[in-house]
Order: sequence, then C-alpha cells, then structure tokens
Amino acid sequence: MPTPSTITLPAPADFHVHVRQGAMSELVTPHVAQGGMRTAYVMPNLVPPLTRTDDVLAYQRTLEALAPDVEWLMTLYLHPEVTPDEIRKAAKAGVRGVKSYPRGVTTNSASGIEDYGVYYPVFKAMEEEGMVLNLHGEVPSDDEKNISVLNAEKHFLGHLRQLAADFPALRIVLEHATTAEAVDCVLSLGPNVACTITAHHLWLTIDTVAPQPHHFCKPLAKEPRDRRALQAAVSSGSPKFFLGSDSAPHPTASKMPSVTGGELHACAAGCYTSPYLLPLVATLLEGFGALDRLQGFVSDHGRKFYNIPAAEKAEVTLRRPATPFRVPATLAGFGTEVVPFWAGRELAWEIV
Ligand code: NCD
Ligand code: ZN
Repeated sequence: MPTPSTITLPAPADFHVHVRQGAMSELVTPHVAQGGMRTAYVMPNLVPPLTRTDDVLAYQRTLEALAPDVEWLMTLYLHPEVTPDEIRKAAKAGVRGVKSYPRGVTTNSASGIEDYGVYYPVFKAMEEEGMVLNLHGEVPSDDEKNISVLNAEKHFLGHLRQLAADFPALRIVLEHATTAEAVDCVLSLGPNVACTITAHHLWLTIDTVAPQPHHFCKPLAKEPRDRRALQAAVSSGSPKFFLGSDSAPHPTASKMPSVTGGELHACAAGCYTSPYLLPLVATLLEGFGALDRLQGFVSDHGRKFYNIPAAEKAEVTLRRPATPFRVPATLAGFGTEVVPFWAGRELAWEIV
C-alpha cells in the first residue's frame, strides 16, 4: 500500500505529560501545542506535589494562560491528604484523575505511596465519581527480594491485577508500559484497564539507554522483546493502548552526571518529547509498519477511554517535509535549557 503524503488526525491528545513550574513551565508548556497536541493530561508531581483541588485548579489556570489553545486535563497526586471528601470536591471541580507514584521510584516521588490498601476508601470514592486512577507501575527496589529497576514493572503487575479485581468499575491506566509482561497483563484485564505507551519506549532499548543520560527515564526501557511487544500493542489497534508521552523535561545540567564538593550526582530521569511529539510518533509508527494505526493511537483510543470527545475544527495535518527536519540539540528560553529526545535525528513528518 503506498504511504500517504498527508495525514489529517482529529484532535491528537497526550494522556500523560509533565509541564513543570516556573521558568521551565514557561518554556515547555507552549511546546505541547507545537508538538501537535490539542488535549494534555497533566501530571501532578510538582514541588510540592499537587495534593489539593484548589492547587490543581490554580495550576490549570497558569497552564491555560501559558497555552490557551490546549485543553488541560488535571490530576491530583495520591497522598494521605487526598481523602474521599477531597475526591468528591475534585470530581465536582472537573479534575479527571489521581496519579499514584510508589515512594521514591522516580522524579518528585518522595511523597509517594507504600501501601495501596490504605487508599481503598479513596479508590472507592473515585470509582463512584468516575475519576481515573493513573498508576506509575513500578515497585521500589529491594535488595532482599532482588527487585531492581530492571524488574520493578513486572513486580508491580500483581498490584494492577488486584486493583482491577477489587474495583471493577474504576477506570485504571497503567502508565508508560515498558515490558511484554505489562502488555499481556493489560490485555488480560477488563475494559476498565488501559495503558499508555510513550514515543521513546517505542524506540529505545536498554542498550541505547545505558550509555546516554538523555535516554534515562523511569521506567527504564527494557529488552528488544519488550519493545517489540509495545510496538505490537500499537500495531494491533487494540483500544486499550494509547499515547501518553511522559514527556518530562529537565534542565540540561540536571541530566549530566556532575561532581560538586567531591561528590557524584545522579542524573535526572525523563525524556523530553513534547515539541515534536506528533511528527515523532508518526515517524516511529511508520518505521514499524503501523502508520495506519496512528489515528487510533494518538486521537481515538485515549479519548474514548477518558470520554473526552475531540473538539470540532481541531484536526492536525501532517505532511512529508520538503527536506527532513532535524531535531535541534537544545531548546532554550526563560533562563533555562532542555535537550529534546532524538536531538540530531531526522523526522519523516512535519505538522502543516
Ligand atoms: C518523570 C519526571 O521527570 O517528572 N520522569 C520520568 O523519568 N518519567 C516522572 C515520572 O513520570 O516517572
Ligand atoms: Zn510521567
């Protein structure tokens, strides 16, 4: 089948994005629309994390001022302050979901949770209010149990199965899946369970992460068989799988291993894909023969799961560039700077 020279998509949506605070937010928030997204589902792992409805709404207003053309969908950070009463208040105010970070597994997760059981009254309230539970699907590392960043997602899947069984009417999203086991698990569960897949995990494997801090993100990209499973999930057209970029900008200096006062510092986790997200996803899907699944993956499946209809006249059209576009080495502004994912590589599509 000849590939088309243009593709028009109804209102692409990114169902997992970090747009930060302060100067970084000023730089990156407008990049969401630039990357072709009309709707963005925003993560709450700010400093401090967003555990109160009023703070979530204030953040939403800030984002709307920075990028009025994007529909900003908001989340709370699961935390002891998030009570069933807070859930009812949040639902009434239009907050869509609650993000659960296991303690200490990723950026700004020091206030994350250790035990899902204590939150059952919160999940019950969410189920009743129609809110979505967004799961960072890793368990903390544990030497005794041989749990590390390499198998933390596989060990999490038991929690996912348990939550799905205990709350059959709660919509649950396993975020940024990275393993074949996670794909199989999501497929085995009911229609209340869906899964986001990032652009970078459709391309990276552990071999390209190990030597490159700019490819370091949580969860880590895994083996070629895992990447194949993620690509197959997209290629299958299953409505359970949709785009959540997990675009997570960090200042360039935070991505670099550095030494201060004689001490080595770890590099921050996160890949930054927002500014070129739709062209990147189209390029990647074309690369593994799934361009015909682009619309489902970026526009239809996530919107259906979340019940967020595409706005009228919000189509985005892609075309083949006259000369391939090369992702720049850095993006700077507002006194900060970030290195985008795929810096120096060429994209096969551009937004008209
Ligand atoms: C995210 C961040 O930087 O906020 N980092 C990442 O590696 N994905 C946090 C997260 O979503 O885990
Ligand atoms: Zn994230």
